[in-house]
Parts: sequence; C-alpha cells; structure tokens
Amino acid sequence: MPPKVFVTRVIPEVGLKKIQEHCEMDLWTDPLPPPRDELLRRVEDCQGLLSLLTDTVDAELMDRAPKLVVVSNFAVGFNNIDVAAATQRGIAVGNTPGVLTDATADMAVTLLLAAARRLVEGHHYTLSGKWKTWEPLGHIGQDLVGRTLGIVGMGRIGFATARRLHRGWDMQVLYYDIHRNEHAERELGARQVDFDTLLAESDFVSIHTNLDDSTRGLFDAEAFRKMKPTAVLVNTARGPIVVQEDLRQALEQGEIFAAGLDVTDPEPIDPNDPLLKLPNVIVAPHIASATVRSRNRMAEIAAENLLAGLEGRPLPAWVNPEVEPQWRKRFS
Ligand code: DGY
Repeated sequence: MPPKVFVTRVIPEVGLKKIQEHCEMDLWTDPLPPPRDELLRRVEDCQGLLSLLTDTVDAELMDRAPKLVVVSNFAVGFNNIDVAAATQRGIAVGNTPGVLTDATADMAVTLLLAAARRLVEGHHYTLSGKWKTWEPLGHIGQDLVGRTLGIVGMGRIGFATARRLHRGWDMQVLYYDIHRNEHAERELGARQVDFDTLLAESDFVSIHTNLDDSTRGLFDAEAFRKMKPTAVLVNTARGPIVVQEDLRQALEQGEIFAAGLDVTDPEPIDPNDPLLKLPNVIVAPHIASATVRSRNRMAEIAAENLLAGLEGRPLPAWVNPEVEPQWRKRFS
C-alpha cells in the first residue's frame, strides 16, 4: 500500500508529480488554506504531511495523526511548526533552504530601493493626476551609494542581500547575529555589532532572521527611536519580528523615513489597517520567493523531503536531524 499524504495546497506540478508517483495523495485544491478542523480531519490517518507556512502544525495536530512520520514544509521558514513537539513524537521535519535565497535577496533590494526612492508613492501620484510639472523639490528620497547597511540575521539570505548592496552600491555592511559570519566579514568587509549600534549607525536595515522567541517583537518603539530619521527598514523575513503598530507610529512621526515589507502581522494585513494609509510604506503580499525557479525548486525539495521521510531515508533538508534514532524506530 502506498503511504497516505495530505498536501495542503496546489504547489508546482514538478513536486506534485513526484508525490503522486509514490503516494496516495490527498490534495487540498482550494486557493485558501484548509480550515483548522479540515486540516485535523484530513491528516488523521496520514503518514506524511506537506504543509505551507499558513498551516499550524502543532502538538494537537500531531496527536490527531498517530501514523505521521514526516512533515515537509513548503518554505525555508518553519515557525508554523512546533519542531520540539515533532521531535518528541519521532516525526521528521523538512524545509526548503537555499533555493529561494536569490529571489528573496532580490526582493529585499527591490523593497529597499522602492522605499528609499518613494517609487510607489510616485506611481500613485501619477495615477491620481497630481503630476503637473517637473518638481525641483518634490519626491526627494534617500541616496544609496556609500551608505551603511545593517543586516539583522547574516545567514544565506542576509549575506546575498548584503553582497548585492555592497557590490552594487558600495554600501558598508554591519550585521547583528548571535553567530559570527567570517565569510561575510572577509568577502564584504562586514562588521558584527550589537543591536543598538546597528540601529544607530545604519541608513538601511534589512531583516533576515528566523522568527522565534528571541526575535519576536525585536523591532518595537524603543528600537525605532534608536534609528536614524532617514533610515529605511526592510522586512522579508516574518511579520511578527516587527511590532506593526510601533512601526506605524514611527513612520507617521518621522522616526524613520520609510519601510518596505514583504511580510506583515497578521497575514494578510487588514486592507483597512492604518499602516496602509501611510505614503512611506510599501507592502507586498509575501512574494519574495515567487519566481519560477524558486517555486519549482521549493516544490522539488519539499517532495524529496516528504518521500525521504516516508521511506526512512535522511531528509535532504532536515530541520530536526536529532530526531533520527526515534524516527527510525517508527519503521521497525
Ligand atoms: C519561506 O520560505 O519561508 C518564505 O517566507 C516563503 O517562501
């Protein structure tokens, strides 16, 4: 009997095909995520789950699915999964690192440039018919060349973003991370600093850290007060790293110049949220990995993780490899 798996959304064909060849696949085809009760019901007698960042995979779900041996997340981030609970229950967890690094770094740079040069505000100005003449004092944004970039979380995506801005715009790079990144120091002349120094010295701050207890709410009113009034904040990581209400006030009161966000808290953001009324914020609908190559590779890796986890092979991208001894016992 092929193993039963639940796939919580239609992902690129290249991944679905692989899964279909080896599994009895239950595919959620609705464009919106499965409601909680439906997710719990569908996963009940599954050995595998392919989840999205919009699915909460917690202890309750795992207890409802006693045969579950693998959860494969179609994302590099896995804050939607209680990994400790999975490890405790002998469930392997996979993610999709590496393949969306360039796409996400490109989006961080796009948001940074667009926010610094007030691009979306200018676009709306044009659309609304307010553009009457060339304005010597209008639409003045921030310069980029030679400025200081602060990277929060100097992992793969942080490095790729810093490399683009260092090589393309000669930016000096500061970073805040619990780990030292000697590669970034060597290649980009990056300097590891504490959080307050990064806030005080950076002209641009780009967030690339995981969401966990240590980063939730990291950017709050106090942090914004320490930033330059000309600073631009970019977040392509996870919404709850920023206290959104504090960001709104900081933007409104001119504590910082602008923000470019690919992620919000919650997602989707309420279209009536006052943050969206501000001219100096750009909000994209969590699309940093949305390129053909990235999404196809994410689908492939997610499928490979799922199949490996079902067959008792090491997951190609394994979030909790420490689960292995306990997970192996599930196959005997
Ligand atoms: C991820 O992979 O974690 C991104 O947020 C979505 O691609």
